[in-house]
Amino acid sequence: MSDFIFISPGEECSLLLGRKIGQLLEAGDIIALWGELAAGKTLVTRGIAAGVGVSPEVRVTSPTFTIINEYSGRLHLFHLDLYRIAGADELQTFPWREALLGNGAAVIEWPGRLGRLLPEQRWDIEFTISGDQSRTIRIGCHGSKNLSRAAKWFGVLGALQTESACRESSGS
Ligand SMILES: Nc1ncnc2c1ncn2[C@@H]1O[C@H](COP(=O)(O)OP(=O)(O)O)[C@@H](O)[C@H]1O
Ligand SMILES: [Mg+2]
Repeated sequence: MSDFIFISPGEECSLLLGRKIGQLLEAGDIIALWGELAAGKTLVTRGIAAGVGVSPEVRVTSPTFTIINEYSGRLHLFHLDLYRIAGADELQTFPWREALLGNGAAVIEWPGRLGRLLPEQRWDIEFTISGDQSRTIRIGCHGSKNLSRAAKWFGVLGALQTESACRESSGS
């Protein structure tokens, strides 16, 4: 088993999902968030930051122009938004090495921009807009270290589906 599908019927549930992922994160983890604009990538990142223990006073927004934001919590968290990067060449001027290969964890919006620089050892979270408030979220993992953690992750995340905010009927 290397992937599973999670249904988020509303924002609250996506935040909870992110928070759980943040609690599961370990140093060196890379989370690639796939999906169109307004799919929920930044919202889930906000949850991840909360789960990592970033202070609730810190506002987590997409670093669309700054490309990289950094937060500190239980782990150092890098948040990359590569939307404005045209190709891997343009990345030379950004400290992506530190973000992807350093001691923290990294969450990446528009990870496809990295091309071959996107590390194989990662978690993929792929969003599909399945309704006004509903998102179908596929979570998959790559790399031997992550594959050995998949059962735990999918168990913990799957259990969220029974929380009231995450029951399908809770969406509008
Ligand atoms: N279930 C849901 N999960 C995440 N976002 C949702 C959901 N339902 C509605 N939304 C809305 O979708 C938008 C997601 O925005 P954002 O997280 O910035 O997307 P992205 O970073 O993918 O562009 C927000 O306006 C949010 O309120
Ligand atoms: Mg975003």
